[in-house]
Amino acid sequence: MVENKIVIEDLSLSYTDGTESLHEISLNIPVNAISVLFGPAGGGKSSLLRCLNRLNDLADVRTVAGRILLDGVDILDPATDVIALRRRVGMVFARPVVLPLSIRGNLTYGLELAGEKRRSRLDEAAERGLKLAALWDEVKERLDDPAIALSGGQQQRLCLARVLAQQPEVILLDEPTSGLDPISTSKVEGALQELKREYTIVLVPHSVQQAARTADYAAFFLQGGLIEYGVDKELFTHPKKQRTEDYVEGRFG
Ligand SMILES: Nc1ncnc2c1ncn2[C@@H]1O[C@H](COP(=O)(O)OP(=O)(O)O)[C@@H](O)[C@H]1O
Ligand SMILES: [Mg+2]
Repeated sequence: MVENKIVIEDLSLSYTDGTESLHEISLNIPVNAISVLFGPAGGGKSSLLRCLNRLNDLADVRTVAGRILLDGVDILDPATDVIALRRRVGMVFARPVVLPLSIRGNLTYGLELAGEKRRSRLDEAAERGLKLAALWDEVKERLDDPAIALSGGQQQRLCLARVLAQQPEVILLDEPTSGLDPISTSKVEGALQELKREYTIVLVPHSVQQAARTADYAAFFLQGGLIEYGVDKELFTHPKKQRTEDYVEGRFG
């Protein structure tokens, strides 16, 4: 029996300019797996990710309808504590955004903001995050160096480590390797394969190939609609809908 961490029911979203970016999306996100949301640009993937931790609260959204249940509780409820929600549902973006601090400082910043002062706790959190993001061995000798001196691939894993240091339950990643070389990309993908044992992961991949490599579950989005959903690699090997097949085979981008 698959346990769903997140259940999305009839989610529709439109922006203030009238664009309807999501139309009646229903989708389950299982725990301990990588769910991949893929499809051409403009399909609504980023809009959907931003709903999952209420980052859209900060965008020009006109209406959000439907429900998003996280462990059975609707996070779209106005009473939701969004700060706590964003700690539980962390996000990594396409471009690594490192803070102008040391490597260690990037990891402890969130906890320090939350009031943690004990050095041992902060060090533990930094080490845990860096190990989980498969970056520890590369940086353990230079935790006090500026984070900006890291390579792009290391910076992206640092962003992942920063999210992990907050001990989230769900990790959202929006094209996290779009700016990375193949070796860095495979390190990030490898880290995600390890992380899925403990977390719920929602990944918007930067290519169909990455979607096929990483998906435990896959959802194909086109122009705000969920066209097809499949388990494991079935969307890439045996798509049922013509539009899915055309996209997967590279007939349109
Ligand atoms: N902040 C915004 N304001 C207005 N329209 C937006 C905003 N963000 C996204 N959109 C529109 O919503 C649609 C879906 O965009 P997006 O969620 O970014 O798709 P994807 O991530 O699949 O490329 C697009 O038509 C886009 O122009
Ligand atoms: Mg996007």
